[in-house]
Amino acid sequence: MKCPKICFVNQKGGVGKTTSTITVADELARRGKRTLVVDFDPQGQCAVALNIPPQPGVFKLLISGSAPADCINETGRPNLAMITGDRSTATAQIVLAAENRPFDTIRQALKPLENQFDYILFDTAPSVGGIQERAVWAANLIVIPVATDYLAVDSLGKTLDMLTALSKQGWQGKLAGILPTMYDHVTNESRKAYSYLEKNYPETLFTPIRRATILRDCIADGLTIWQKAAPGPVADDYRALVDQLMKLSRS
Ligand SMILES: Nc1ncnc2c1ncn2[C@@H]1O[C@H](COP(=O)(O)OP(=O)(O)OP(=O)(O)O)[C@@H](O)[C@H]1O
Ligand SMILES: [Mg+2]
Repeated sequence: MKCPKICFVNQKGGVGKTTSTITVADELARRGKRTLVVDFDPQGQCAVALNIPPQPGVFKLLISGSAPADCINETGRPNLAMITGDRSTATAQIVLAAENRPFDTIRQALKPLENQFDYILFDTAPSVGGIQERAVWAANLIVIPVATDYLAVDSLGKTLDMLTALSKQGWQGKLAGILPTMYDHVTNESRKAYSYLEKNYPETLFTPIRRATILRDCIADGLTIWQKAAPGPVADDYRALVDQLMKLSRS
């Protein structure tokens, strides 16, 4: 697959989408892969997590008609660049809907960058709206992070329904897998949620990412886990995920 595009999506908030996007992206970059993160969330947290200022990169890309190369920010990390989002992404969302822009708007906008990057990763907002669907449409692989608690597992169906609806309309990508996050084997709730996922989605379940407060500190400090606490248990979990995603991208 040339320049695989991997989209982290779940309509539920706080399940680990941003953490997973930037952690996977920085590890791909550390493995020598030229990697671009595109933050489609108006919260602009990918930039915050990498300690760079949120800017209207997505708005420029999708609405102002800027050349894609002009929308990219360096992150100060080798091989890792970003198209940041900020509040203007919410305006972009409204314009896309009002002008009824085609589903493949994002795919077309990113095409010129395919020769410059080995991987492009998308972070998305915890909501349903034109941007999420268009980001999924542009992606080859989808990862659905799901916090291993009762309510998060309950919301998974809605995101899967969106993928099914897009497939019916001709979307060519596929679900890479469901990623259980914040897994804590000591709590009954985590174990129950995980067994539910194992029972219902055995074919598409990634190895869980443990609950680790160090990940909260990482965001607060603008550092990735690779800079802050690797090697370590949660870094090992994410390394295994990166291995699996690289393998899926080759097939
Ligand atoms: N494995 C984990 N263990 C403990 N805390 C985690 C873990 N993964 C993420 N967190 C923390 O949980 C919070 C939510 O994570 P994150 O921002 O990645 O979720 P999100 O799905 O992107 O949220 P939103 O939907 O608001 O964009 C953050 O404070 C993050 O540091
Ligand atoms: Mg987020």
